[in-house]
Amino acid sequence: MESIIRVMRKNKLGIYDFHCHVLPGMDDGCRSVEESIQVMEESLKQGVCAIMATPHYYPRETVESFIIRRKAAYDRLSEKLNENKIRVPMLNLGAEVAWHNGLIYEERLEELCFGKSDYMLLEMPFTKWSSSVLSDVRKLLNMRNIRVIIAHFERYLKIQDKKMIESLLDMDVMIQMNGEYILGFWTQRKAAKMLRNGVVQLLGSDAHNMVQRLPNLGEACRKMSQMGLGDVLMDIQETSVEIFQESIYGSGD
Ligand SMILES: [Fe+2]
Repeated sequence: MESIIRVMRKNKLGIYDFHCHVLPGMDDGCRSVEESIQVMEESLKQGVCAIMATPHYYPRETVESFIIRRKAAYDRLSEKLNENKIRVPMLNLGAEVAWHNGLIYEERLEELCFGKSDYMLLEMPFTKWSSSVLSDVRKLLNMRNIRVIIAHFERYLKIQDKKMIESLLDMDVMIQMNGEYILGFWTQRKAAKMLRNGVVQLLGSDAHNMVQRLPNLGEACRKMSQMGLGDVLMDIQETSVEIFQESIYGSGD
């Protein structure tokens, strides 16, 4: 039987990584251009065709200064890649935006969305959510018209009450899962259940470098196909293609 990865490759459905700290010197991810290239080359080797760079955005700086830093990091990386003609996955720019008080009033927030799209990766607090946190998510969706993607959803499950999780899932948000949850010995069954139930729309490696939190999305996708989740993987890849294209060309409306 043909492997799902080969079918995906044939149909040009490569793996899309929507959560990656690949830009050099931006956060606790890659520290140098060389490290960024290693992460990108390893991702390509695993079948990743596109990476959304999502450095942490914290309110200790303005969106404006973050964007200037991010462009400088991207330019340094692109220069090296072009200079040496290195083959790597496609790259576009986003951010992992940490929820904080006042986030919904932040100026130029839309510029933290993935490229030209209105999709934004949101990191929820790692403390118990109050109703105002959820109300802010609602306002991001309805007031700012941002399409919210909840970063590594699985990481909040242990901390939050079931009711809070359900309220979040009742909203029109998208859910991103990390590769490590699919690969983890103790978590893979829970991951499979969530994937099978259609909770998850996007995947990410959340890779930081080649020493800790390595690129693993190719392995995670292989694991999914071994677990009989090939059809779920195809659905995720189709959604991924649409969102990545929107990040490049805009929504067209
Ligand atoms: Fe992250």
